[in-house]
Amino acid sequence: MTASTILVADDDQAIRTVLNHALVRLGHEVRTTGNASTLWRWVADGQGDLVITDVVMPDENGLDLIPRIKKIRPDLRVIVMSAQNTLMTALKAAERGAFEYLPKPFDLKELINVVERALTASSTMPQPQPPSGDTDEQLPLIGRSGAMQEIYRVLARLMGTDLTVMITGESGTGKELVARALHDYGKRRSGTFVAINMAAIPRELIESELFGHEKGAFTGATARSTGRFEQAQGGTLFLDEIGDMPLEAQTRLLRVLQEGEYTTIGGRMPIKTDVRIIAATHRDLRTLIRQGTFREDLFYRLNVVPIRLPPLRERPEDIPDLARHFLAQTVAQGLPVKIMDAAAIDRLKRYRWPGNVRELENLVRRLAALYSQPVIGADVIDCEIADALPAAPQVEEPHSEGLSFAVERHLKEYFAAHKDGLPANGLYGRVLREIERPMISLSLSVTRGNQIRAAELLGLNRNTLRKKIRELDIQVIRGLK
Ligand SMILES: Nc1ncnc2c1ncn2[C@@H]1O[C@H](COP(=O)(O)OP(=O)(O)OP(=O)(O)O)[C@@H](O)[C@H]1O
Ligand SMILES: [Mg+2]
Repeated sequence: MTASTILVADDDQAIRTVLNHALVRLGHEVRTTGNASTLWRWVADGQGDLVITDVVMPDENGLDLIPRIKKIRPDLRVIVMSAQNTLMTALKAAERGAFEYLPKPFDLKELINVVERALTASSTMPQPQPPSGDTDEQLPLIGRSGAMQEIYRVLARLMGTDLTVMITGESGTGKELVARALHDYGKRRSGTFVAINMAAIPRELIESELFGHEKGAFTGATARSTGRFEQAQGGTLFLDEIGDMPLEAQTRLLRVLQEGEYTTIGGRMPIKTDVRIIAATHRDLRTLIRQGTFREDLFYRLNVVPIRLPPLRERPEDIPDLARHFLAQTVAQGLPVKIMDAAAIDRLKRYRWPGNVRELENLVRRLAALYSQPVIGADVIDCEIADALPAAPQVEEPHSEGLSFAVERHLKEYFAAHKDGLPANGLYGRVLREIERPMISLSLSVTRGNQIRAAELLGLNRNTLRKKIRELDIQVIRGLK
């Protein structure tokens, strides 16, 4: 590669040093600055072959600079780095014509890769979308984990395209939300978003739902009816639970996708389609293909851009943001303001979430509606999560250990933590309290707050139970569920 001049703007001295070092080693000339105005001056002077800029700088937002740079130097490529790793940052960077967006912290190798692409890629790149009015609207997707950032980057790149997308992921991971975001921020946003769930429609009606039918096409077709393809004309058609589509309907869908036109059931006039297809499923389509229930050729038609949404347990770092987001939604719906304390959040992060984000959303709703205290603590979460468990027997811990083993392990760690000495006196009482607390609160939870039943269950005298509840400050919620 020939040597180029690279302009770097970031208010973080450490990042400037690292980039400078890495790029100089590649043989480039590097100029660094901590503010946007210097960067702008260099660009306006005609300097530099590539710009690498941070978003938040003391004087101006790096994203705001991009359209101005593009105006005076349309061929100058801009790489954006940001620690505000939200979908909105990724979208804005793409929308304003950034060459690439790198969420911080990034891997230096990745940056070098992007720099090389930016310096060598041909200049006939797809034109970025015109800005969409730039509202700082409510973000549709929450979460800043590495896994979600990767999704945001893919989404941002897809916004200017009509490519077919296949979204996979467990139930409740946000597949429909992603499909809607692709429509709402994409080039078809002025069209309609039409969703059809293959699992929710009787098999024999799917083709008629998709393509519409003429009057008298089959028994019960008393009037002409438009199909979802027609309703989505100019917009997006979301084929949800595509894995549940019957084979005959798959064959018809494949033909429509190949030919770009279809006829209604009982109709003869071919109708041209102009829809963007997004499909989703929580099933493993490759397994269905092996079993012969999903057409391989349809799979390849639909799987043009695969997006896999990670289960929530693979990104526990997103849980605090999500919980706050859902709490804020309940406030917007008129419920009192609540917060969760650190221990509560910690409990949420340790749970396995078989129902993923939807389960978390429902839990937060329940907390907001059923608990009166403004601060939600770990005990409440324990009750609620224990409540959820019987409904989801598949969540058994793979490494489940006996209770006494667990206590032993904890105590060993506890003693080991006091290398030279012993812990404070009163260990017996402290440990018993640790065990009593979950035992009592869970017993109360399974008896729906009925203290007489809970006392029987525990084999305790009613007054003793009452005393313990007071001493341990356990919340009793009556008639839950
Ligand atoms: N990243 C996210 N940020 C905010 N809300 C989310 C996120 N992911 C999911 N949700 C919310 O969780 C719920 C479930 O999401 P969605 O319906 O999109 O999941 P799904 O993958 O389509 O599930 P299913 O397979 O059961 O149909 C929705 O209320 C959605 O708004
Ligand atoms: Mg769904």
